[in-house]
Amino acid sequence: MTATPAPTAGTTSQPPLLALREVHRTYGHGARANTVLHGIDLEVHAGRSLGIVGESGAGKSTILSLLMALSSPSAGQVEFRGAPLRRARASRMREFRRSVQLVFQDPRSSLDPRMSVDQILREPLESLVVPGDHRARVAELLEAVGLTPDMAARYPGEFSGGQRQRIAIARTLAPSPQVLVADEPASALDVSVRAQIIELLAQLKDELGMTLVMVSHDIAIVGRLCEETVILHDGRIVEQGPTLDVLTAPKDPYTQKLLAAVPQLPG
Ligand SMILES: Nc1ncnc2c1ncn2[C@@H]1O[C@H](COP(=O)(O)OP(=O)(O)OP(=O)(O)O)[C@@H](O)[C@H]1O
Ligand SMILES: [Mg+2]
Repeated sequence: MTATPAPTAGTTSQPPLLALREVHRTYGHGARANTVLHGIDLEVHAGRSLGIVGESGAGKSTILSLLMALSSPSAGQVEFRGAPLRRARASRMREFRRSVQLVFQDPRSSLDPRMSVDQILREPLESLVVPGDHRARVAELLEAVGLTPDMAARYPGEFSGGQRQRIAIARTLAPSPQVLVADEPASALDVSVRAQIIELLAQLKDELGMTLVMVSHDIAIVGRLCEETVILHDGRIVEQGPTLDVLTAPKDPYTQKLLAAVPQLPG
């Protein structure tokens, strides 16, 4: 697998991998219009994984869908490597789709039970026109997530929940992305396998230089995986910065309240 070296904080003059600029998002029209994001500004830099924390309904998943270009902002813009995504050419969109991959919350619904693991992993290689030997790549992907190449012939129903999430993550790695976007990637899993999936994500950061953008209710997970944290409250960012600062010395009263409700912080 190709590893992208992760630059250390502050040494990069590269544009951010992803950015939201003054983004607003309104659902519905007229009397039913509901603005759920109000002027969001954030940047995702290579090697600086970003955690997004906030209460239910704060707008976390809406931010992820904008960052994935699955929906468009009502105002403001989404940038990929320093240039707006709006009206991007097909070739640039293809590059974007290869570079930014989404990890679904629940592997039970994200894997097609009628497809073998081999078919599941080949699908993105084919649809995103990834060059190289796809058979070898499938074996490599399975090993990257702690599974074995002989599992390629089996079907999702033959795996445990944790193994299925590993297969789903292997699929996102197929086009060698730079960014994995994850909405509560472990919350649908049993407590016993949750930690294993978190460790897998940590390993992908270290070994492949992957940058994560993740939503989690679990502040300990954000503390383990993310260098940067954004605290979202009612569609507004109330605090953002290095995770250590946000979690140990929050300046905003809402963040202080949120953290006070957490039984213990990561050690
Ligand atoms: N497709 C939609 N149509 C209309 N309203 C929506 C839609 N998706 C989300 N919303 C509303 O936007 C707001 C933010 O929702 P969002 O799903 O982004 O929150 P969230 O922070 O991810 O919450 P949770 O932690 O419960 O997943 C909520 O008030 C929600 O009802
Ligand atoms: Mg959500």
